[in-house]
Amino acid sequence: MPTNFDRQLRTRDNWRAKKAFDDVAEKYQLMWSQLEPWQLEEREEFTSLLDGTTVLDVGCGPGRDLKLFNSWGLNAIGIDISKRMLKLAPHGLLVKADMRSLPFADECIHGLWACQCVTHIPKSELNVVLNEFFRMLKPKGVVFISVNFGYGERYEEIGDLGVKSTRSFYTLPELKRTLQRFTIIKSEEKRWGKRHYVICFARKENVE
Ligand SMILES: C[S@@+](CC[C@H](N)C(=O)[O-])C[C@H]1O[C@@H](n2cnc3c(N)ncnc32)[C@H](O)[C@@H]1O
Repeated sequence: MPTNFDRQLRTRDNWRAKKAFDDVAEKYQLMWSQLEPWQLEEREEFTSLLDGTTVLDVGCGPGRDLKLFNSWGLNAIGIDISKRMLKLAPHGLLVKADMRSLPFADECIHGLWACQCVTHIPKSELNVVLNEFFRMLKPKGVVFISVNFGYGERYEEIGDLGVKSTRSFYTLPELKRTLQRFTIIKSEEKRWGKRHYVICFARKENVE
């Protein structure tokens, strides 16, 4: 059960993320609208693992991946905490929500796409998010997570965007440990220029 202190921290952090991403939504879209070939492959790989078409793009931002998934015939729904980001996203099913408490029924999603968003959640709350992911995924559902490589967490500038947010960094073993309720399909570190990521594809195999 979250304590009052936990709730206060979450409210502060929630407000900070909303403000930061509202402030830079247009700039973010300009900087990150193109996919590199290796990024496209990641998305194709995710799609190939799905056992159905309902996908939730968590922290969808301006909707680059939503658009792609829908163009491939999936029924992709976007959720984000930032209203301004959602305004830039393609029309469709968009929901303003915090990934720590998602307004979806149990076991209704075939695939969860979480690209560079749980990295903005304090480490102490990653489990809350992963429990939500586990709850909403259908048995055999697939989750993709990509976070920044590193250690610890800081409140600092995000990339070259000029605003600050919570940034949590993970090593590969650490990310895999947090996904222990899932079966890992594939996990790796990826370097791209000065960027260094950790990614995991995992499946909800063991239904408790
Ligand atoms: C770095 S952007 C990634 C956007 C998109 N997934 C992409 O790959 O381009 C992080 C996104 O997560 C959203 N976000 C941050 N904290 C969130 C939260 N607690 N709940 C839902 N979305 C959140 C931000 O508003 C932002 O759109």
